[in-house]
Amino acid sequence: MTNPDEGTADLLRRTADLAIEYRGRLADRPVEPMATEQQLYEILGGPLPDAGEEPLAVIERMARDVPASLMAMPGPRFFGFVLGGGLPAAVAADWLTSIWGQNSPSAHVTPAAAAAEHVAAEWLIDLFGLPAQSSVGFVTGGTMANFAAMAVGRHAVLRAAGWDVEQNGLQGAPRVTVITGADAHVTLFAGLRMAGLGAGTARRVAVDREGRMRIDALEPALAAVSGPAIVCLQAGNVNSGAFDPFEVAVPMIRERLPDAWIHVDGAFGLWAAATRSRTHLVAGAAGADSWSTDAHKWLNVPFDTGLIFVRDGASHRAAMSMTASYLPFDGGQRDPGDFVPELSRRARGFPVYAALRSLGRSGVRDMVDRCCDLARRFADALRAEPGVQILNDVVLNQVLVRFDDSDDRTRDVIARVQADGTAWFGGGTWNGDFVMRISVINWWTREADVDRSLEVIRRALHDSRAAG
Ligand SMILES: Cc1ncc(COP(=O)(O)O)c(C=O)c1O
Repeated sequence: MTNPDEGTADLLRRTADLAIEYRGRLADRPVEPMATEQQLYEILGGPLPDAGEEPLAVIERMARDVPASLMAMPGPRFFGFVLGGGLPAAVAADWLTSIWGQNSPSAHVTPAAAAAEHVAAEWLIDLFGLPAQSSVGFVTGGTMANFAAMAVGRHAVLRAAGWDVEQNGLQGAPRVTVITGADAHVTLFAGLRMAGLGAGTARRVAVDREGRMRIDALEPALAAVSGPAIVCLQAGNVNSGAFDPFEVAVPMIRERLPDAWIHVDGAFGLWAAATRSRTHLVAGAAGADSWSTDAHKWLNVPFDTGLIFVRDGASHRAAMSMTASYLPFDGGQRDPGDFVPELSRRARGFPVYAALRSLGRSGVRDMVDRCCDLARRFADALRAEPGVQILNDVVLNQVLVRFDDSDDRTRDVIARVQADGTAWFGGGTWNGDFVMRISVINWWTREADVDRSLEVIRRALHDSRAAG
């Protein structure tokens, strides 16, 4: 009888070599993909063959054909969106996670996955300065963390109003008022939509030019509430990096609406709590009821890991947990599945544990601080260029740049920089103006990467002006 697993060791060794080879070139290859989706679709596609192919041949061909259409996102000069890269220990642990193959909702069935998550959860609570008893769910990202927070908040405020939303749903329930900042992240509204609270019903409180909730606008919004309420604050605006004024807002909400649920979307901003010099930005945020963040942003673990923290673990469990006779959740230990919307799930605790263990407290602090300092380096250098404006107050890792006070010029500079391939920046609209967005959040990025990227931006601006 042949061994069906024969050859797997060679396959994995070869795959590791191919992956290492790719990663070895990552810092020097063009950041932007060199081939389109359509080109790769044609290479990969055609009718599903009847006969299978040797695994090694499949992998060799993928390793040959796919990279041209990859964006060098984990590399040191990708500054688009707000995405981390892959810390070496986290990437390696992610490989092990696939090999270990744990479906991780139950501590009884997969104790290793549960234990790694448990330790990582405690370390993260400590790192962020959140209430020690908080419960933690490891979800796929900030979107699911925001959704989970809305589901938990919905549970708690309706329970206080005498309504069991888990059993009865929202039909006939007391109305829940939701308050957000006018510039809250789109995924918060997706969370509201999926939790049945409606994206369009949120009362959006006016923000200042940095995107921070205005206290003078929050006050009347709170005064207009009667009944159950969820108030959503933000740590780190996706464009400017700005923080809502928690130190004033949280006590004000507690005083005016003692039963309200306060949520903080801190997808990347919550990591300011781990820094040397920027903790003041999140001062007061720990007074909320729930917090969402991403490990695949500033902790630089591979996709996909988001985190939801809840002060009241009983509410968290009540909104998320499920049972069936065949599912061995014994309640005596921390079951990861009690804190997330999914049943089957990857053992996300392993890469998070490895990242934290490999960095230590000081390593996390240095990484986040370094990114913020590099964002300042970008801003200072660009501000010194004639015709270049920095439109935000660079408090964290986000820089918003505008060229010649012109949407067209800014678009053209971005296109030229992207085509050059040395670095990658995206665009967006800020207070009505088109801007180039710079997000520095990758563990790998150093001063030399910023300086190389600045050279390309300067050249692109020069060429754009020369072209008229
Ligand atoms: C403030 C904020 N919230 C939520 C998210 C969504 O996170 P994810 O893309 O991991 O779902 C982001 C992503 O950039 C964000 O900046």
